[in-house]
Amino acid sequence: MDRMDDAPAYPVGLRLRGRRVVVIGGGQVAQRRLPALLTAGADIVVVSPQATASVEAMAAAGEVRWERRAYRPGDLAEAWYALVASTDPAANAAASAEAEERRVWCVRSDDADAATAWTPATGRTEGVTVAVLTGRDPRRSAAVRDAVVEGLRDGSLVAPRHRERTAGVALVGGGPGDPDLITVRGRRLLAEADVVIADRLGPRDLLDELPPHVEVIDAAKIPYGRAMAQEAINAALIEHAKAGKAVVRLKGGDPYVFGRGMEEAEALAAEGIAVTVVPGISSSISVPGAAGIPVTHRGVAHEFTVVSGHVAPDDARSLVDWAALARMRGTLVLLMAVERIGAIADTLIAGGRPAGTPVAVVQEGTTAAQRRVDATLSSVARVVAEEGVRPPAVVVVGDVVTVGRTAGPSRG
Ligand SMILES: C[S@@+](CC[C@H](N)C(=O)[O-])C[C@H]1O[C@@H](n2cnc3c(N)ncnc32)[C@H](O)[C@@H]1O
Repeated sequence: MDRMDDAPAYPVGLRLRGRRVVVIGGGQVAQRRLPALLTAGADIVVVSPQATASVEAMAAAGEVRWERRAYRPGDLAEAWYALVASTDPAANAAASAEAEERRVWCVRSDDADAATAWTPATGRTEGVTVAVLTGRDPRRSAAVRDAVVEGLRDGSLVAPRHRERTAGVALVGGGPGDPDLITVRGRRLLAEADVVIADRLGPRDLLDELPPHVEVIDAAKIPYGRAMAQEAINAALIEHAKAGKAVVRLKGGDPYVFGRGMEEAEALAAEGIAVTVVPGISSSISVPGAAGIPVTHRGVAHEFTVVSGHVAPDDARSLVDWAALARMRGTLVLLMAVERIGAIADTLIAGGRPAGTPVAVVQEGTTAAQRRVDATLSSVARVVAEEGVRPPAVVVVGDVVTVGRTAGPSRG
């Protein structure tokens, strides 16, 4: 066989579903390559006396057929494609020669020059497969692949879909505030939007990165005349979507955690507008976490309950069973509770939760302004007032508050 010349490889996408791929060797190289071959639906035979635990597990699961022996001439008889990656140079050379003779494209892990095919560095995101070949520099291939995939994921590489892109609304959970805590899908949709309607909470820094043609609307400033604010937001979403725009409704945390996401989704669906919902990292878990508080901890709390404190416990509109919550010993995470924390704490104590239960209040979690104050159930109202704690804040009640806390006791 001729040694490879310097001509660049001809890129192609192999459609391997149901087609035989023979892998000679069951070591690390095979282990790394098999998942992509499986994803492509290939009919895989691994020929190797030994295999790594992962390759063995794939064989045990019936995902690949493992011939537990050394390579034999004729192994490539049914193959469309071969990967030669054993630790035996003679077997590699013989398998490679058989591939050449049978005109089976063959990748070699031990000798790229002798191979008839090269494996590109590949990545996949949102229906795009990125494959990079740089000849003899696999690290550079991987770096280019990473840059492209990351760029597509986080929206810094904007490549709008032309065929599939449909006007509609994406309800995107933006996470608690740190711009790094939005999902990659959310960030990409944001980068592809024509109109963004954003809440006060959430990753507002991301709005500054949007290109100038994107119309950014502050949901709090939508004039609502005699309609409710939520109806006015729904009307704005509908109006822009009906104008054929790609609209992102950027919400704090997760759209379905006290976010009225379903109300918006229903209003849009009623108008026949396509809605995509992108989950977000909810402040109820991430804000305590950012302040060093795990909402569960082995041996301390086996449950956590997320409760809205936007109406007081004695308010007739309250749907919360405060008496039941007071009897539970797990973690209580209260959102929208700063204004009513005194009444809530009193109700919990009256219902049986010990007055000395540790409490932490975390304001503007995950942002540069994050701060945490510690108290107990009996002192929290006073501490919140003295410290001037303001919304948005998450209140955490329970023994998890002191887990991992080395500095300073609670103010009781
Ligand atoms: C209307 S709820 C929306 C919750 C949101 N959908 C979520 O999943 O995080 C607003 C409340 O979430 C909490 N919150 C949201 N972001 C926060 C943050 N960065 N720091 C502290 N609390 C936050 C506060 O309790 C705030 O009053």
